Amino acid sequence: MDTRVRPLASGVRAPDFDLRGWSSAHLERVEQALSGWVAADAPAGLGDAMRYAVLDGGKRLRPLLVLAACEAVQGNGHAALRAACAAELIHAYSLVHDDLPCMDDDVLRRGKPTVHVQFGVARALLAGDALQALAFELLTPDDGTVADIVQATLCRLLARAAGHRGMAGGQAIDLASVGLALAEAQLREMHRLKTGALLQGSVMMGAACGVAPAAAGAALARYGAAIGLAFQVVDDILDVTADSATLGKTPGKDAAQDKPTYVSLLGLERSRAYAQALLAQALAALDASGLDAAGQERTQALRALADMVVNRDK
Ligand code: IPE
Ligand code: IPE
Ligand code: MG
Ligand code: MG
Ligand code: MG
Repeated sequence: MDTRVRPLASGVRAPDFDLRGWSSAHLERVEQALSGWVAADAPAGLGDAMRYAVLDGGKRLRPLLVLAACEAVQGNGHAALRAACAAELIHAYSLVHDDLPCMDDDVLRRGKPTVHVQFGVARALLAGDALQALAFELLTPDDGTVADIVQATLCRLLARAAGHRGMAGGQAIDLASVGLALAEAQLREMHRLKTGALLQGSVMMGAACGVAPAAAGAALARYGAAIGLAFQVVDDILDVTADSATLGKTPGKDAAQDKPTYVSLLGLERSRAYAQALLAQALAALDASGLDAAGQERTQALRALADMVVNRDK
């Protein structure tokens, strides 16, 4: 494995790009849409648990990646908003289940008690199930606003990212790996599946909302793979270095539960260097995508998001 810090590709910091301003405009639409779609009227308190799991919290990285990738290919913003919310619903469901006593047994998430602490294990399980189903409902409107072929592609990409060859498969490896010293390739595969797949899938869903040359699509897939893996490397680092108030979740859990992580395998410094190397790979993929040709700067948001993934503190 190459963990050297390579020279960063051009435009790493996207100095002229106002990520905060760009994000806040987009997130306003995402929050409004999520609040409208995650209805409180599900029976027997299920809606309360669903809204609790989804609203008022989280960095919303996956929705931002969908929207940024859609902008990079100048795609259908209406389809992308649905895809952005669908990706966040799958993510929120994965967190609810990840926190259950039978998995990581966490009591704090997004600065609040976890869903099962607040509503009980059975309702947390069902809230996760219902959020997953709702994600696919959002991708398949019957009002003619999203072409059938786009709907089918979005469903395929999200199902693939969430299922046994994606998040759920990675989570199975995670649970089966407690107490084991994984080789680097095995750890990378676990992280690629449990976390990377949905982040890469978010990028690919955004790209599927428009039409891009095959080479650009392949470059976006490489970008998504690099930031997807980098995201979990940094999550492993923050579990060791950050505090609970900043993270909104309990730090130190990986070591306490004897989970193999990049920090346990490489140590902090080499893990940080690896995350920076993955950032360079992500930016190099965008450089090669052809999307910024002719003076266009269509990948600015994707560049700034990659930088945020690797250099975040929460
Ligand atoms: C946490 O994801 C779980 C992982 C996949 C590592 P985030 O760090 O994106 O969580 P929120 O959405 O900001 O709460
Ligand atoms: C979880 O990884 C990845 C998911 C698919 C939810 P972690 O278990 O490390 O995530 P946190 O640290 O609890 O957020
Ligand atoms: Mg976990
Ligand atoms: Mg966890
Ligand atoms: Mg973690």
